[in-house]
Amino acid sequence: MTLTTSPEKGIRGEILTFKADPFLLPCEECYDHYTDGLVVIRDGLITDVGEYADVKERHPGLNDIDTYTDSVIMAGFVDCHVHYVQSPMIGSYGDTLLDWLRQYAFPTEARYRDKEFADSVARIFFRQLLMNGTTTANVFSTTFQESVDALFEESERYNTRMISGKVLQDRNLPDYLSDRSAGESVEISEHLLHKWHGRGRQLYAVIPRFAPTSTPEQLRLAGELYQRYIDKGVYMHTHLDESEDEIKWVASLFPDARNYTDVYSRYGLVDRRSVFAHCCIVSADEWQTLHDRDCAVAHCPSSNLFLGDGEFRYREAKDITRPCRLGVATDVGGGTNFSIIRQLGEAYKVAMLHGHTIDAMRSYYLATLGGAQALHLDDRIGSLRAGNEADITVLDLKCNEFVDWRMQYARDLSEKLFVLQTLGPDRVVRATYVAGRKIYDRDREEPFSYAATDK
Ligand code: GUN
Ligand code: ZN
Repeated sequence: MTLTTSPEKGIRGEILTFKADPFLLPCEECYDHYTDGLVVIRDGLITDVGEYADVKERHPGLNDIDTYTDSVIMAGFVDCHVHYVQSPMIGSYGDTLLDWLRQYAFPTEARYRDKEFADSVARIFFRQLLMNGTTTANVFSTTFQESVDALFEESERYNTRMISGKVLQDRNLPDYLSDRSAGESVEISEHLLHKWHGRGRQLYAVIPRFAPTSTPEQLRLAGELYQRYIDKGVYMHTHLDESEDEIKWVASLFPDARNYTDVYSRYGLVDRRSVFAHCCIVSADEWQTLHDRDCAVAHCPSSNLFLGDGEFRYREAKDITRPCRLGVATDVGGGTNFSIIRQLGEAYKVAMLHGHTIDAMRSYYLATLGGAQALHLDDRIGSLRAGNEADITVLDLKCNEFVDWRMQYARDLSEKLFVLQTLGPDRVVRATYVAGRKIYDRDREEPFSYAATDK
């Protein structure tokens, strides 16, 4: 008896996909580019990729092919740090990080006891991700279990690969948002870990919000939880070294620690599946620790500019003598949009403030394979290669009249992609595929479809 499998499906057009880190190796060795390429998909996985003529010959029976002209087909984007619960307060006026948290973030997050509210935000959040070509995100929820369930439930409907978990926070925030006790909060986190980690494509992270909003006891228990499950692929996700005021506050709360990274380190939170958002103001000692422990850094440029945090230094993060895993992130609601492409444009400007550039190839590497490597998922996502999960985004090089006109003056793909990241046009994503299904089609009457309902 043969196992039944779904028929093969193809996606044809210009393809760009990364296979190594261009911050560490010569750029030309780090990607494949097919001007007329073909990706073959079966049962949610990529089975073949290459020049159309070669690949088609290997798959003579393949007839179901979506063909995209004037487009670029890439791996789906990876957002390494985003607060879905802050979607309702994106673009709130005024103030720097700590006051912004008090004024906007905490009151908004208090609403997620209400599961219906959480469901409604998760719904709009996923639509924003998918219409921006993002297929995997490392997501903050908030204190309440309802906020975690709502996120993962919606992710299951689209069959997206997401990382999330309960946010642990038991001091220095209003009672209405605070965990009742460190012990209980970590028990709830472990319960949610059992419920969601490895269920379909969902993955769990232990998430202390940041050092100032956890008691030493909560950090200790969070570290123990992380260490118990690290070999099962569970993550640790938090904020680090975002702004001067925050760093001073941490120093006053933890006077014995050598630096901010050391606070987390003392509690077993700095390890090989740890993801640290921001890292704008990092000492050489801390970079060394982040490298030695194989940690990942999520660069959040639009958020750092919006909150006036500090300026991320990618040259330090990717110092060839001690490089770190690095991805980009929107950090909504500190971030000002859900578009990873626009983050690349902002990252370029932040680098320029320090007299450096990041070219388009390195930028789109960060958006795809770099993010996947940061999240230890590069064996499954982040590039278009046989065996990977078929998470794919299709960018439209003619998404509006002006972009269409401008592209005639771009000499090659790299220049075209740089124009896209700099202009950040609306509706640049033409289609998004998740595990081989087209779950977003910009030009369809109803652009979004859950995996279960899609043909
Ligand atoms: N540090 C602690 N919490 C937050 C948050 O919600 N947003 C940002 N940007 N930084 C934080
Ligand atoms: Zn954040």
